[in-house]
Amino acid sequence: MITSCQVNHLVNPVGYQLGEKPVFHWCVTGLPGTCLKDSRIVVRQNGDVVADTGWGKLDALGTPLAMSLQPGTRYTWVVQVRSDTGAVETSSENFFETGKMGESWAGRWIGCDDTQERLPVFGKTFAMEGKPVRARLYVCGLGLYEASVNGQRVGDEYLTPYCNNYSAWVQYQTFDVTQLLKQGENRIDIELGNGWYKGRFGFSGKPGGYYGDSWKLIAQLQVQMADGTGKVIGTDASWQVRRSHLIFSNIYDGEQRDDTLKDLPDEAARFVPAPEGKLMERLSLPVTVREEIKPVALIHTPAGELVLDMGQNLAGIWRLHVHGLARGDRLHLQVGEVLQDGNFYRGNLRSAKAEYIYASDGTEQTLEPKFTFYGYRYVKIDGMPDLQKDDFTALALTSDIKETMTLETGNRKVNRLIANAAWSRRDNFIDVPTDCPQRDERMGWTGDAQVFCPTALYLSDACAFYGKYLYDMKTEQDALGGMVPVVVPSFDVKEQAACAWSDATCIIPWQMYQFTGDAAILRSHFPAMKAWIAYVRRLEENDHQWRKQFHYADWLALDGDGAKDAVLGGTDSGYVAEVYYLYSTRIVADTARVTGSRGDEKTYRALADEILQYIRQEFFEPDGRCHIDTQTGYLLALEFGLSDEKQMAEGLVRKLMENGGKLQTGFVGTPLLCEQLSRIGRSDLAYNLLLNEQYPGWLYEVNLGATTIWERWNSMESDGSVSSTGMNSFNHYAYGSIVQWIAQRAAGLRQKNGSTGFREVLYAPEPDARLAHAAIRYQSASGLWEARWEIVDDQTMKISLEVPFGCRAWVKLPFATEDVYKRKEALFDEVENGFCVARAGKYEVTYHIDKAIIS
Ligand code: BGC
Repeated sequence: MITSCQVNHLVNPVGYQLGEKPVFHWCVTGLPGTCLKDSRIVVRQNGDVVADTGWGKLDALGTPLAMSLQPGTRYTWVVQVRSDTGAVETSSENFFETGKMGESWAGRWIGCDDTQERLPVFGKTFAMEGKPVRARLYVCGLGLYEASVNGQRVGDEYLTPYCNNYSAWVQYQTFDVTQLLKQGENRIDIELGNGWYKGRFGFSGKPGGYYGDSWKLIAQLQVQMADGTGKVIGTDASWQVRRSHLIFSNIYDGEQRDDTLKDLPDEAARFVPAPEGKLMERLSLPVTVREEIKPVALIHTPAGELVLDMGQNLAGIWRLHVHGLARGDRLHLQVGEVLQDGNFYRGNLRSAKAEYIYASDGTEQTLEPKFTFYGYRYVKIDGMPDLQKDDFTALALTSDIKETMTLETGNRKVNRLIANAAWSRRDNFIDVPTDCPQRDERMGWTGDAQVFCPTALYLSDACAFYGKYLYDMKTEQDALGGMVPVVVPSFDVKEQAACAWSDATCIIPWQMYQFTGDAAILRSHFPAMKAWIAYVRRLEENDHQWRKQFHYADWLALDGDGAKDAVLGGTDSGYVAEVYYLYSTRIVADTARVTGSRGDEKTYRALADEILQYIRQEFFEPDGRCHIDTQTGYLLALEFGLSDEKQMAEGLVRKLMENGGKLQTGFVGTPLLCEQLSRIGRSDLAYNLLLNEQYPGWLYEVNLGATTIWERWNSMESDGSVSSTGMNSFNHYAYGSIVQWIAQRAAGLRQKNGSTGFREVLYAPEPDARLAHAAIRYQSASGLWEARWEIVDDQTMKISLEVPFGCRAWVKLPFATEDVYKRKEALFDEVENGFCVARAGKYEVTYHIDKAIIS
């Protein structure tokens, strides 16, 4: 079978930017015969072949195809694979459809009176002589838009046209509206709301908006009839503007709707200047409702409030059935993440009002916000005394990304922690990888994104999502001389770069390549990666200015000044800056190798050597001792091979022991912590950290009822009180990076060195009796990996493993004696340096272990 067919990591994309060479991906899950001989891609347009690779060795992880694509055209494609026996399998038919590409627009940008409070709805009525055979709506409305045709919502997306660096480009979406049109009179309406382009967002506090402050809309409806004739309707001065009942909207503060308002006479739309950025095909994935959740409780709080508990901290909107209100009655809804003393609380949202205010016209209504989203678990509703639990439904929003991993252990709290990381990923993957979804921030902080990226790539097929983020990053860099702002899209945080944050421009594409094996990602981002190194190099050559400037470094580590709301950790930020400079430079050298740029590879290797020498000279003694005597100091030294491994390992263990076996690490150290302990043979200590239920640790927050990952180790004190309000979110994924360690060391499935796309895997679990078992199911780019270990009883270990077609696993059986490897079972057919080399298939083995080992 052939599955997972994608173009540019998208399933059947319509109206996306595809580039000059769209990249095709697929996955062969089985084939008659023993192996794959060759493959072939055939692309058709209206049945005619427009591209045919012929039979050859094509890479299922990514085969770029040069094609001269036409605008507004649907192409179908299949991939065929042939086995060594000559058997041929053909995929089902897939498609991709181009957007307008360079084609000019029939519509022009229109707007209206910006001073009116009520949000505008642009509309046009038009006649159709028959029912069309094909109709597309190309549309972009700023700040945000929602389109409908004949009263029916177009598509199922929220928050279009999404969030990006609007100074450089503006995205339009393409919708198939064939089914919504009819013969006779038709009506198209497009409502605009504030959002990221327009309206309060970011640190600038500009209420008008950072990128723009006036309404703008462009649309083109392209219709084809059965007889070959067509019709094009573009935005122009003939469009009318109606005023909606929404009188306020923005991302942070929510929405206000007044149903008592009278309809106003229509206004005529007017032509307005185009926005600064270039109008282009989308890269953003659809943001859709992933899950509808009903409240688990309706709480009458001690303070006399009516509060709904969703049982889960989430990001999204909601649907509320409103009844029992008289005309003019007002309803006020607010959200929060946690309760305090049993009462509603929203102190950690800072200035974000995160509310909805509604004035009723006395009729029953179903409310659903359109141009905002919230991060919440609790909902306080004032003004609807007969509120029932069932009146409310949470709509959890996230970018539409396939989830790829389930990870389960015999420890309920660890499972909750894994679920919390999965939730924080969803909640912070609303078009941009954000720090948090609730307070007046919700921005694409590059450090957070970088730190969590490998975990996100285990949890989900997030390549297209990060692809759009990287595209934005590149546009920012182009305008900033290679500098990578700490926030992307940068809004008003343009002038600042920082180590480990800005290095995201190298780390994220490199991680994507590791997980997908698709070198096109590296090729397209290579210039931006090099531009970043050039930027740091310029600063470094000027008396090491890079090292000397402000860095967040080991952000939120506990070895700083000790204040409970401290932000800076104790690890020298200059050291972190130099080490990340080394890391990024190495990535660029490796990228040069992968993309075949020999000259660049040499240059960046030499630069990396130079940086390494400098780091050794500045931060280490000639005998190898590290001056940076912190947990993170040693972790970086181990991760990047900066000094003698044995000494660094001793240093790390000593620092842990000095702190009672507990962690002190922040954003930089935490993702490395358990992995480096495992690498030095101290998985026992890694487990102690994972399973520690006291502060600080991952299960501390689970014990306090967390359903998402917290920003700080002490976001909440052990008595349940919120520790501080200056910067404290309960939905921040950085520390969720522990899930990477659980997947690769506890569950035991990690990629073999040098492999990409999970074609070659090391299955070497490091069981701990406190987990009892660990199972992982990971839908990789190369197929579905499944593995499970179980301590059946104190003398028996059971392992099962499924290796996907075309892949190989190197298996190390935990606690197994040499005898086990001599068994006459399929798993032991090939044993190499103490590893069983397993090809595609299912394996299960049960063996005796020494009781003493696990107790
Ligand atoms: C964000 C962080 C971010 C940081 C920069 C905070 O306000 O929430 O997660 O990385 O600023 O240090």
